[in-house]
Amino acid sequence: MKFQGSENYVATQDLMLAVNAAITLKRPLLVKGEPGTGKTMLAEEVAQALNMPLLQWHIKSTTKAQQGLYEYDAVNRLRDSQLNTADSAQRVQDIRNYIVQGVLWQAFTADQPVALLIDEIDKADIEFPNDLLRELDRMEFYCYETHELIKAKHRPLVFITSNNEKELPDAFLRRCFFHYIKFPEADTMKKIVDVHFPDLKQDLLTAAMKTFYDVRNLPGLKKKPSTSELIDWLKLLMAEDIPVEALQSADSKVSIPPLVGALLKNEQDTTLFEKLVFMNQRNR
Ligand SMILES: Nc1ncnc2c1ncn2[C@@H]1O[C@H](COP(=O)(O)OP(=O)(O)O)[C@@H](O)[C@H]1O
Ligand SMILES: [Mg+2]
Repeated sequence: MKFQGSENYVATQDLMLAVNAAITLKRPLLVKGEPGTGKTMLAEEVAQALNMPLLQWHIKSTTKAQQGLYEYDAVNRLRDSQLNTADSAQRVQDIRNYIVQGVLWQAFTADQPVALLIDEIDKADIEFPNDLLRELDRMEFYCYETHELIKAKHRPLVFITSNNEKELPDAFLRRCFFHYIKFPEADTMKKIVDVHFPDLKQDLLTAAMKTFYDVRNLPGLKKKPSTSELIDWLKLLMAEDIPVEALQSADSKVSIPPLVGALLKNEQDTTLFEKLVFMNQRNR
């Protein structure tokens, strides 16, 4: 099993190396990076390239580790016990009817090796990663209600992503292989754009990329635009048939790009950018 990139996804050499290292070590791959750098998509693409079904677990601030294993639906059982129909009476007999399997349970019991994505682990509270240590390490857990040990038939390929909103505990980090997706340099970015818009005119692309990196490099920006925002913006530029000239002023000074709302997402950043443009114009 080796990951070699895919036609929809541009993977740098070191990213491919990291994926294959995690596969070799049989450890979860922890992927960090700015939002929009392709962390979630990486799991989807690797799963597809290796021909594995992908189970996804999107973490929220309220997600608990136990939900990934299983949950016991006591309310439903109580209701069935009060229903008094033959059907419900029979269901109540077996507690397994009220065990809701979580993604780890599904991944462990799958008949073929699967990929498992634990997406945005830093959203959950600080205990969350620690609560999953044992399960991810031993690839097994115990269901107390049914007295069964759920053990992985095949070790799933685990991807864990983080947007770096919280630090992760050391004990957790020790068990992962780590990769940070650096923000793509211009040439990688060109390849990414090319995957999405193979027919984009080169001069428009060059001008748009220049504007994009200019905006990103503005000092003091609250939120830098990401890869996915560049892609959105390009899609708009193409849909609206914006000419290259609208992006390049003749004297190559900065001007406010059209549809800038695709790149800048708050008024402070827009104001900052406008100020810069204004100063540039005065300095002419
Ligand atoms: N390396 C890449 N190759 C192709 N498309 C990419 C790449 N990185 C990002 N993208 C684009 O950016 C979008 C956002 O990626 P996503 O995986 O959701 O980012 P993240 O999970 O890091 O926030 C993707 O849907 C894709 O369109
Ligand atoms: Mg994501």
